Amino acid sequence: MTAPSGRLAGRVAVVTGAAGGFGRAIVERLLSEHARVALWDLDERRVAEVAARFDPAGTDTFSRGVDVRDSAAVDAAAAATRDALGPIDALVNNAGISAAARPWEVTDESWHEQFRVNADGTFFCIRACLPDMRERRSGKIVNVGSLAAQQGRPTTNPGYAASKGAVLGMTVSLARHLGEYGISVNAINPGFIKTEIHNQFTPEELAPLTADIPLHRGGEHGSHGRPEDIAAAVAYLASSDADFVSGEFLSVNGATRTGS
Ligand SMILES: NC(=O)c1ccc[n+]([C@@H]2O[C@H](COP(=O)([O-])OP(=O)(O)OC[C@H]3O[C@@H](n4cnc5c(N)ncnc54)[C@H](O)[C@@H]3O)[C@@H](O)[C@H]2O)c1
Repeated sequence: MTAPSGRLAGRVAVVTGAAGGFGRAIVERLLSEHARVALWDLDERRVAEVAARFDPAGTDTFSRGVDVRDSAAVDAAAAATRDALGPIDALVNNAGISAAARPWEVTDESWHEQFRVNADGTFFCIRACLPDMRERRSGKIVNVGSLAAQQGRPTTNPGYAASKGAVLGMTVSLARHLGEYGISVNAINPGFIKTEIHNQFTPEELAPLTADIPLHRGGEHGSHGRPEDIAAAVAYLASSDADFVSGEFLSVNGATRTGS
């Protein structure tokens, strides 16, 4: 990671899905930029371990097991975060799920489940953090969308693409609603970045995704991106460097979208 700045000093940021591949890198990056960070994740034990790893003294983090599908649990997590760290300045909606499936394999349950986590969960977290941001007339909301919502791909579950499309739609709508309160809302659309979310995919399913990334950097990650690439984009959008940026989608995909 490049040398951090103190762009986020004094800010309180919530990161959902903080125990996952992107989540861990985002937490590490925001802490390195001197934010205090609330780590929310379904996996209470793992998220506490992540907090302890990056903040052994426990002074700059607060971790909480929370299911973003459950709006009451999300509201309670926001209240507990306020008590622990103070009013919430930034929210990174990163929790998400995916499952490889062709359209004819998609069950009602998997369709709804992807919407419950990816779309409902994102909105519930935003709504829960808004009181602090509206009252202080400032805030940064960063939603993690996906390239899958912008480009058809053979292995992408259409329910995943549609639920991430909902995230992009709410990003634009909320940016319009919340601008008058000084709150910016943006989305990052990552391309393929190998994390545990891909554990259920076969090598054959993953091959076309890695083959289609023009920007080759080599190294241990080969041609695909790194969680740190997403973390850097999050830190920018959560900082005052992006004060006049709202309602936008930032692609982080090594030029994948330039292909056919
Ligand atoms: N990895 C990629 O290539 C890629 C590409 C585009 C978009 N994304 C998106 O980036 C985000 C992070 O993905 P990742 O690759 O780090 O995945 P990951 O599976 O490593 O991490 C996801 C985290 O979300 C948590 N989570 C799942 N359901 C939850 C719930 N109901 N409530 C709270 N937490 C929950 C999981 O416990 C996990 O820690 C997701 O929204 C994903 O859709 C990833």
